[in-house]
Amino acid sequence: MCGIIGFVGTTPAVPHLLSGLRKLEYRGYDSAGIAIASPTEPDIVIRKAVGKIANLDQAIASHPLEFEGPIGIGHTRWATHGIPSVQNAHPHLSQDGRFAVVHNGIIENFHDLRKQLRELGFEFRSETDTEVLAHLIQLHRADTLIDSVRAALRLVRGTFGIAVVSSCFPNQIVVARRGSPIVIGANETETIVASDVAPIIPYTNKVTFLDDGDIAVLTPGHFEIRSMENTSVSRSETAVDWDPGAAEKGGFEHFMLKEIFEQPEALENCFRGRLLEEDGTAKLSGLRLDPHDIASFDNLVITACGTSYYAGLHGSYAFEQLAGIPTRIEQAAEFRYRNPILSPNAGVIAISQSGETADTLAAVREAARKGATVLSICNIVGSTIAREAGRGIYLHAGPEIGVASTKAFLCQVAVLNMMALLFGRTRRLSNSEGVHIVHALKKLPDLIRSVLEQKDCIRKIAEKYAGCSNAFYIGRGYMYPAALEGALKLKEISYLHAEGYHAAELKHGPIALLDEKVPVVACAPLVPGHDKTIGNIQECRARKSPVIAIATEGDDSIAAFTEDIIRVPQCSELVAALPVVVAEQLLAYYIARFRGEPIDQPRNLAKSVTVE
Ligand code: M6R
Repeated sequence: MCGIIGFVGTTPAVPHLLSGLRKLEYRGYDSAGIAIASPTEPDIVIRKAVGKIANLDQAIASHPLEFEGPIGIGHTRWATHGIPSVQNAHPHLSQDGRFAVVHNGIIENFHDLRKQLRELGFEFRSETDTEVLAHLIQLHRADTLIDSVRAALRLVRGTFGIAVVSSCFPNQIVVARRGSPIVIGANETETIVASDVAPIIPYTNKVTFLDDGDIAVLTPGHFEIRSMENTSVSRSETAVDWDPGAAEKGGFEHFMLKEIFEQPEALENCFRGRLLEEDGTAKLSGLRLDPHDIASFDNLVITACGTSYYAGLHGSYAFEQLAGIPTRIEQAAEFRYRNPILSPNAGVIAISQSGETADTLAAVREAARKGATVLSICNIVGSTIAREAGRGIYLHAGPEIGVASTKAFLCQVAVLNMMALLFGRTRRLSNSEGVHIVHALKKLPDLIRSVLEQKDCIRKIAEKYAGCSNAFYIGRGYMYPAALEGALKLKEISYLHAEGYHAAELKHGPIALLDEKVPVVACAPLVPGHDKTIGNIQECRARKSPVIAIATEGDDSIAAFTEDIIRVPQCSELVAALPVVVAEQLLAYYIARFRGEPIDQPRNLAKSVTVE
C-alpha cells in the first residue's frame, strides 16, 4: 500500500519523481507529494495534493518550486492514520524543516513516541504515524544521515519502508526496510528507489531488493547497503524481463481492459517451457522438489487473500482431483492467528500476485516456523513472499497495474493446474491422462481469445444491467470459485453489491433476497454438475430474478431458462473456469464503465495490501 519513489542524479528530480509516482499510483491514490533537496540550498521544498497525481502536477504548476534540485523523494498514499488531506500527505518534515520522510507501513508505538516528542517540545502538523519518524531523525541527528536514520529507527516498533532526504546531508537519499518493500536500481549517473519495480524499469532492468533490517545510502549512480548494526551487506541483483512499455496503457482506456486483453499472451508466457507433452506432465524447476519429495506430502494447505484465494480454491479442487492429496484452503489472515495444525509432511502453498501481501507473508512465516515445506506462487520476481518461501513458481504475467486482478488470476489457476498435474503424474495419473491435461492447458490461450472476441455482446448485456444495485453469482464445482471471483470483480470496480454463492447454497438463505431487480449470473458451462446448475437457475427464475448465463457454445437448451447468454467455448472441466472468469471480467468492466466509475483505481482500495 502507498507508493514510494526517490531519485538522486544529475538532472532535476521533479519529472523523474512525477513519472515514477504515476507508475505507482495504483498502490494508493488518496493523496501524493514530493520533497526536493539541493546541494546548494539550505531548505527542502515540498508540494502535496489530495487525490491523484494529476492534482499534484497542478499544485506544482500553480506554485512552481523555489529551486530545481537533483535529489528528491515522493509518495502516493493509501490512508491508514488520518484522513486523506494535504497535512497528512507525505513527505513529512521534521520540526526544523531539514529532514523529509516518506514511509510505507505502520509505526505501532507512534502514540508513545508522539507523547515523548511532544514533551520535548516537538509540534505535530499531521495525524500520521510517519511524522514521528521525521522528528526522531532530527532529534537523533548524528554525523551522517544514515546514522541519524538508524538511531531513529532503533526506537520504532512496527513496519516500514522509508526514504529520507536532508538539507544537512545533501547529495544522498537514505532508505530502510522492515516489512515494506524497497527496490533500488542504478545506471551510470542516476539511482532510483521505489516500493516496487515498475518505476525503475525505464532506468535499468537490474534491481536490488532490500531485506528486512537493511539500510542504504543512495548517491548518483551508486548505492551502498548496510545493516542496522552498521555492517556492510551485499544483496544480489535481479534481472527483470518486463519491457518499459508493459507498465503503460498501450492505447487501452484502462489498465484493467489492457490486462484482460493481455491474458492469452500472459498464459502463453506462463506455460512456456513448462508443459511436457510427451511425458504428459509439467516441469516446474522453481519448486525444487524431486519425485520423492512430492510423494512424501500427506496433505497440502493453500493460503492467500482476495482473488488469489479464489485461485487457491480452484487449486485445492485440482490437487485432490488429479493428485489425490488432501488439500485445504485457508484465508491467510486466519492462518497466522488460528494456530493451524500442520502435519510434518504438509506442503503449504502461498499465492500472491504482488508477493507483498502482509497477511500472506505472515502465513508463510508461520508455516515455515511450524516446519512445513513452503512453496510460493507469485508474479513479482524477487518479491518478499517469493524470497522468503525460497522455492516457488513465478506467473510471468507481466506487470498488473489495475487494482482489480485479472491476468494474475488466470495465470495463478494455470500454475496451480500445472502443479496438480505434476503432483498427479508423480502419484497416480497415467501418461495418457497427463497428455490429455497438457493438451487442455495448451488450448487455453486460444479459448480466451474467443471469449475476448465477444466483448461487444458482453458490453450490451452490461449496459442492460448497469443500473441494478445487487447481483448474485452462482456456480458449482470449479464454477464455484469462478462465481466468487466474478462477484468480487463486480463489487470492487462498480461498487454494486454482489455476492458469489455456491449454486446449491442459495436456497439456504440468500434466495430470500431474489426478485426481479436482482440479476443472477450463472456460471453454467457444460461441465459435470451442469444439470444441477440448471435446476438452481430455475429456482432463481421462479423468484423472478433475471438470469445471465455463461454457457457453452452450442448448448441451446439453456436459452429456455435465461434472459441473456454469454457464450464460452467447449473445454475440459479442469480449465473451464478460465473462459468463464474472462467473461465475468468483461461484464464487470463494462458495467463499471457505464456507471462512470474510476476502474483502475477504485475507491478505498490499493493494489498491494501491506497492512494486516
Ligand atoms: O497481491 P496479492 O495477490 O496477494 O493480493 C491479494 C488481494 O489483495 C487481491 O487479489 C485483491 O483481492 C484484488 N483487488 C482483487 O481484484
